[in-house]
Amino acid sequence: MQKFTITGGRRLRGELVLQGSKNSSLPIMAAALLCCGEAALHSCPKLTDVYAASRILNCVGCKCSFSGNTAVIDSRSIDSTDIPESLMHEMRSSIIFMGAMLGRAGSCTVSVPGGCELGPRPIDMHLSALRKMNVDIRENGGAIVCRAHGGRAKGARITLAFPSVGATENVILCAVTADGETVINNAAREPEICDLCGFLRACGAEIRGDGGSSIVINGKQQLHGCEYTIMPDRIAGATYLSMVAAAKGELILTNACIPEMEPFLSVLEQTGCSISTFSGKIYLRSGTRLKAVKDRIRTMPHPGFPTDAQAVLMAALATAEGTSLFEENIFDCRYRHTDALVKMGADIQVMGKIAAVTGRERLHGANVEATDLRGGAAMVTAALCAEGRSEISRICHIDRGYEKMEEAVRLLGGDMRRV
Ligand code: EPZ
Repeated sequence: MQKFTITGGRRLRGELVLQGSKNSSLPIMAAALLCCGEAALHSCPKLTDVYAASRILNCVGCKCSFSGNTAVIDSRSIDSTDIPESLMHEMRSSIIFMGAMLGRAGSCTVSVPGGCELGPRPIDMHLSALRKMNVDIRENGGAIVCRAHGGRAKGARITLAFPSVGATENVILCAVTADGETVINNAAREPEICDLCGFLRACGAEIRGDGGSSIVINGKQQLHGCEYTIMPDRIAGATYLSMVAAAKGELILTNACIPEMEPFLSVLEQTGCSISTFSGKIYLRSGTRLKAVKDRIRTMPHPGFPTDAQAVLMAALATAEGTSLFEENIFDCRYRHTDALVKMGADIQVMGKIAAVTGRERLHGANVEATDLRGGAAMVTAALCAEGRSEISRICHIDRGYEKMEEAVRLLGGDMRRV
């Protein structure tokens, strides 16, 4: 099992080009199933979750290959609509292949992806929405067998009880080739939804309203291949900004998606570090001790504060002056990283959805275990500003969503190695 070893206390300084978005590349790879042709995806990040998605595509008969950060997916012919449980369980977001396969073939057999480190990950909204699109869905044991009546889903008016990112994506993936018009009310507004719709439009889909709460899709008979560049990863951007804010120094993010990162930037600048943006770049300078964030940091659906940035910002605030309050409203168990931060000397009190973080002058290195993707990134963030050496194990969690994090940190002058 690989580990990261980090010796903290160094200022960080440098320029990073952000990786492509994990949370865009996964639904877009599923969407490539829909186009009876070849899709070339540029800025595709080299992540274990991306390789898991490619195994699903190859398993159903597509040909998915990589050349650097370009993925080429040939979906001209598929030879199965069943996704084995072993592949479904490799990553939680594999459930979006259900909508894509229904859109392509009108039927599929998948399995419940199961819970993960963030708690139970129900898919009730996915299933009830697809049933409204004339899809018969039977659950027996862990298997989910879907069949569109007449072999093709039908457009429908769907209102989501909660703006679920995955449920919105599954409906879009099924609706782009459904018979008739689909309207999604209370749709997720995350930037990755817009990126998915941008890819689908490039494949000939008719979609409007993405980025807002109401998305209208006019189903087409068939989609074609295309060439597309995946958007930068706004959460990776928030992660590296949090690292430099905590460890002190300067960072330039050259290809940041600034408007999409506003909900995070507007909170980060309350810590006292200076942030400026100019011609698509973000400049961060962090010289003195951070200040606690006065307002409660509430994680909310976009354009609220992103839940995926909660852990890394918490790690940065663990050495700030004063107490910051977090309120995690999206997932049931998204404070699993706090024990490791406390082991490094942080003062964090968790009470249900609330976490109170009282900054300490300094943290100290410790040996900790990554609990989940963003929790692991938070431990790296804390280790970079802690005194002494830290070891972080179970970094397979981190590799799911960050492309060679140790190389990015070393580029900034940090002492971080993969052993
Ligand atoms: C996506 O997960 C992201 N993953 C998550 O990023 C992100 O945290 C989340 O959206 C929220 O922004 C990918 O895009 C691959 P949801 P998703 O459906 O689609 C509940 C990361 O770190 N819910 O918006 O699973 C659900 O349990 C990952 O990169 C239901 O109850 O998120 C959760 O509490 C973590 N029933 C809440 O809604 C459903 O049918 C939000 O989930 C669906 C969801």
